[in-house]
Order: sequence, then C-alpha cells, then structure tokens
Amino acid sequence: MPKRDKILVLFDSAGPTTLEHDYTDELQTEDWKTEAHVMATLKELGYPYEILGLHDDTDLLRQKLTTFEPDVIFNMVEHFGNLSSAEHKITSFLELQGIPFTGCSAVGITLCKNKSIAKKILSYHRIRVPDFVVLPMGRKIKRPKRLRFPILIKPLKEEASYGISQASFVESDDDFNERVKFIHEKFDQPAIAEEYIVGRELYVGIMGNHRLQTFPAREMIFHEVPEDEPRFATFKVKWDYDYRERWGIENDFAELDADMARRIEKLCKRIYHLLLIDGYARIDLRLTPEGEIVFIEANPNPMLASDEDFAVAAEKAGFPYPRLIQRILQIGKTTIRD
Ligand SMILES: Nc1ncnc2c1ncn2[C@@H]1O[C@H](COP(=O)(O)OP(=O)(O)O)[C@@H](O)[C@H]1O
Ligand SMILES: [Mg+2]
Repeated sequence: MPKRDKILVLFDSAGPTTLEHDYTDELQTEDWKTEAHVMATLKELGYPYEILGLHDDTDLLRQKLTTFEPDVIFNMVEHFGNLSSAEHKITSFLELQGIPFTGCSAVGITLCKNKSIAKKILSYHRIRVPDFVVLPMGRKIKRPKRLRFPILIKPLKEEASYGISQASFVESDDDFNERVKFIHEKFDQPAIAEEYIVGRELYVGIMGNHRLQTFPAREMIFHEVPEDEPRFATFKVKWDYDYRERWGIENDFAELDADMARRIEKLCKRIYHLLLIDGYARIDLRLTPEGEIVFIEANPNPMLASDEDFAVAAEKAGFPYPRLIQRILQIGKTTIRD
C-alpha cells in the first residue's frame, strides 16, 4: 500500500465532539490504548493520518471526508450514540460513502452482533452451538423445559462481557427469571439464555477476505478457580486486573495437539465465511473435556491493542504489530463491499 495514502482514524467518542477536539489526555489512558497503539504505528510507518472521534453526528464525518479526502478510513467505531447495538449502522454509513475502510462490513457485524442470529446460521450448517432461547422484553419470562440447567444469561446484543457476572450463571427458575428481568431493565434489550458449556475457553484470530490467515489459539486460563466451579469470562474476569491476579486468571497460547489445532483452524475459517465476516475477527470457542468444539461468539473488529489476544497471536503467526496494522489497511483497501 503506497505510503502516501491518507488515513482517517475513526473511533468512538462517548459524548458530542468537534472536528478539532484534542484527544491527547484520553490517549494516555488504558481505555484508549487501542487507538493510541494504532496511531503510534501509523506514524511509525509513515502514513499521513488525521483523526476523528464520532458520537452520533454523521454530518461531522461528512465534513471531515470532504476536507481531508482520506484514501482509507481506519475504522474503530463500535457504537453510535453510545449504543453498541448500532455498530452496523455506522458501518453501513461508511459503505455508502464509497471510501475504503478497515475491518468488517455491515452485514457481518449485523449477523455476529446478535448472538441468536449467528448461532442459528451456524447450527443450520451443523456446527455445534449451545442450545439457547431469546427472552424478548415485555413478555412473560419462562424457561423452556428443553433448556437444561446450568444456564448462562446474557444481553442479546452487547460485547466485552457487559452484563455478564457470576449471577449470569443460574441453576434454578427463580434465579433465571430474576437475571432475565435484570438484563431487560438494565440493558433495555432482550436476553439470551444459553446452555452452559463446560470446557476450555479459546480465542482464535483470523484475518482476510477470501484467503484467510488464522493465528494460533489463545486460551483464558483459570489457575486458581477450582475445577468443579464455573469458569467463564465475566466482566471482572476480563477487565479487573486485581481480580485476575487474585484468581490466577491469564491469557496465554493454548496447548493443543496438532490434530486439534488443525480442526479448530478449519472450523474457524468456516465460521468466518458462513457469518459473512471480512477484514479481521476473533472467534470465541469452548473445547469440552470430550474434545468437542463449541461456538460461543464471533467478534468482527476485535480489540487491536498490541497487548491484546488478537495482536499477540498475530505476532506469533508472523505479523509483528506494524505489519499487522499494515495488512489490515491493505485488506480494507481491497475489500469489495456488496
Ligand atoms: N454458552 C456458554 N457456555 C459457557 N460459557 C459461556 C457461554 N456463553 C458465554 N460464555 C462465557 O461468557 C463470556 C462472554 O460471552 P460472549 O457471548 O462472548 O459475550 P461478549 O460479547 O460480552 O464477549 C465467554 O467468553 C464465555 O467465557
Ligand atoms: Mg466474547
């Protein structure tokens, strides 16, 4: 990709913003490490770039596109008006502008963001997914008899383990009803209740459109959580560093025999295509003690910070961070959005 290509780095802003907003302070914080790492790398690679934080004002984006005329947009927007469930709408808007951008197209984001749609598509193709039921708002909350305990209850359209805590894991109808009610009230969206899958927790990074590159699987390891206790990625498990230390939780490369690693890689590539993902993504799986691979979730445009699983695994696959960022730009530039 020519070095003179102009890049517009586009990211979330929690509140209304302006074209001139200075993000220097935000960029020093842990919450902004993805944006900071990407920008530092674009600089290092010599790309001319400008930045824009987006809240809920597409007019601002139109203005920026007119004045700056970027060749590629580096898209890190995951919200619109603070709504995570609106991510696909801003991606559709980018598609309508006709300017190349990085990451997944609106269709893939739409299919993956709704945790029930992705599972329905994959189960049609005989890929093992947890049994589940969606509990819409404003209807009587009742567990279908076929859905057996233990059950994990999540918001239907969130990410990053928002709304997932120890109380999401339920073993009685009373707890089930209470947690679903909590999700409706707190998150203002349907809940999805899933069969809880016992097993190892794996994350597989993939990038590309037609020919895909997979990265070695990462695993969330729970050193200090007793084997017979539920082990899953609550919000605290993911983001509270003291809590992680206390329970001996760490992410590392998964030790898998070569045959299993190949099976996982093949399955993830299939999932990526079936869910119409392009750009780059991370697929979350569980591997049961019987050696069954179960799909949990696909995340188009996963967090790109250099110390997060996606980038760490990319490096092991021969894409050190600057090369990874360059490759993501290249893929974005050549993606046909249809
Ligand atoms: N059906 C399930 N069985 C076991 N664990 C699950 C299941 N669904 C989710 N989890 C656990 O909860 C975590 C978050 O769920 P996920 O669907 O990936 O939501 P998010 O989009 O918030 O990351 C997973 O990483 C996994 O640890
Ligand atoms: Mg997840």
